[in-house]
Amino acid sequence: MATLDINGKVVDVEAAPDTPLLWVLRDHLGMTGTKFGCGMALCGACTVHLDGVPTRSCITPLAALAGKKITTIEGVNGKVAEAVQAAWDHIDVPQCGYCQSGQVLAATALLTKNPKPSDADIDTAMSGNLCRCGTYQRIRAAIHDAAKSLEA
Ligand code: FES
Ligand code: FES
Repeated sequence: MATLDINGKVVDVEAAPDTPLLWVLRDHLGMTGTKFGCGMALCGACTVHLDGVPTRSCITPLAALAGKKITTIEGVNGKVAEAVQAAWDHIDVPQCGYCQSGQVLAATALLTKNPKPSDADIDTAMSGNLCRCGTYQRIRAAIHDAAKSLEA
C-alpha cells in the first residue's frame, strides 16, 4: 500500500511499487484526464506535476512518489493555471484534445518559472509535448496570451 498526495488529497493505493503513476491515476483512481500516448517518455501526453515540476507519469513508478505533491489536470489550480486555461479557451487551442492536458500542465509549469517567455523559451519548454493535430502555433499564442493576462 502506498499513500499519495494527489491534488491536495491523501489517497491510499494498493499497487506494486513499479506500477507507473499513469496507471495508478487512470486504472486505480479513475482519473482519466492524464493520457497514455507512447508509454516511453516521448510524447508528453501523460504529463503531471510532481512538486510543480512537469513529469512523465508513464515512466514514474509508484515507489518514487513518497512525500511528493502530485498535481493532475483534474486538480491544477491557482493564478497561473487559471490564466493558462482561460487562454486555451480564448485562443481555442485544442483540436482532438488528446494531448491537451499534458500541454496545459507543461505550459503552467513554464509560466510559473518564467512569466514572460519568448518564442524560443516556449519552444524549448514545450518541445517534449507532441501534438499530432499540429496545434503548436495556437499553443504558443495561448502561452503569450496567458503571460499577458498575468502581467495585467
Ligand atoms: S505517454 Fe508518457 S510521454 Fe508519452
Ligand atoms: S489536439 Fe489532437 S493531439 Fe493535440
